[in-house]
Amino acid sequence: MSHKLTLIPGDGIGSEIIQAATRVIYEAGVNIEWDVVEAGMTALEKYHDPLPKEVIESIDRNKVVLKGPLTTPVGKGFRSINVALRKEFELYVNQRPAKTYKGIKTLYFDHIDLIIFRENLEEFYSGIEHYIDSSKSAAETIGIITRRGSERIIRYAFEFVKKHGRKKLTVVHKANILKFTGGLFLDIAEEIAPEYSEIQFDDKIVDNMAMQMVMNPYQFDCIVTTNLFGDILSDLASGLVGGLGMAPGANIGDSVAMFEAVHGSAPDIAGQNIANPSAIILASVMMLQHIGEDEAAKKIEKALAAVIEKGEKVTRDINPKNFIGTKEFTDAIISQMEGQS
Ligand code: NAI
Ligand code: MG
Repeated sequence: MSHKLTLIPGDGIGSEIIQAATRVIYEAGVNIEWDVVEAGMTALEKYHDPLPKEVIESIDRNKVVLKGPLTTPVGKGFRSINVALRKEFELYVNQRPAKTYKGIKTLYFDHIDLIIFRENLEEFYSGIEHYIDSSKSAAETIGIITRRGSERIIRYAFEFVKKHGRKKLTVVHKANILKFTGGLFLDIAEEIAPEYSEIQFDDKIVDNMAMQMVMNPYQFDCIVTTNLFGDILSDLASGLVGGLGMAPGANIGDSVAMFEAVHGSAPDIAGQNIANPSAIILASVMMLQHIGEDEAAKKIEKALAAVIEKGEKVTRDINPKNFIGTKEFTDAIISQMEGQS
């Protein structure tokens, strides 16, 4: 079966890692016609618009997107195009797994397998912020939590746990201080939990959660939380399993899904053939599962895992003493797949 999907290469390390992902997908035998469109900095330079209408139209047509990282200017300039795309297509779930692959040195001996479900549209990412006067004597950001927005992410997380035979869901919040917004999110989780009585359910306050995840990640399984906490805890979770180079993510809505790495454009290593493409390759694995290409998804994940386990042909972040480049690592995954079939 052939598929037509949208591809946004992104900027920074985007083109290098996206090239790795599309090569691996091709070699796994999946027939994809990529509708390539540009967004963010590259689109701004070329078309004077960081989110040209061609991007929206392409996603509207194809419904599934593979996206490289997009740089967002810090404290000034245009608003995040990542956030804009999530809002435009109501991608309310940000599913971010953190799983150990053998061969990666981490602080932990045993296998970690966590999934964070981050609410992706509300709270401090709603973009309602301003200075109260022209001398910037104060600034205000309004975080909005809605019943509808909370219900759908929490239900999605419970349904996922149930469908995939996972064991436990932890809701993370700061309802002791953010009594209204955090309180509402927690209330809704507690209202829904009894409908899933077979699933172990608990809650944690976010600061304690950060400490607990570092001290003993094995006590957690799936985690559902609000937008900002999910953003931070998912980077923390990636640190438990080998860093951002190993962390994939999926932005999911009712009709569109967009797959990307958890990490950003990594300007410090861009253009040097250093970046680890595993995160975007694992995001591609999630994408292939989403479009029903389960065999190819398995094949790619197995090959990636095997190359990492051997440890001889990996990127610098995985083995700083003995490493190869992004492209050569990708070659190794492709050779491994050929050996498997
Ligand atoms: P970052 O995730 O780009 O980089 C953080 C650190 O991790 C850097 O030292 C980088 O070299 C390293 N790193 C990231 N990905 C890696 C990979 N695949 N292989 C090896 N090392 C890797 O975060 P940073 O520097 O805070 O943000 C840079 C830009 O990316 C900002 O403009 C930010 O807004 C944007 N960003 C975009 C995201 C997206 O497109 N979804 C997500 C996060 C940040
Ligand atoms: Mg982030």
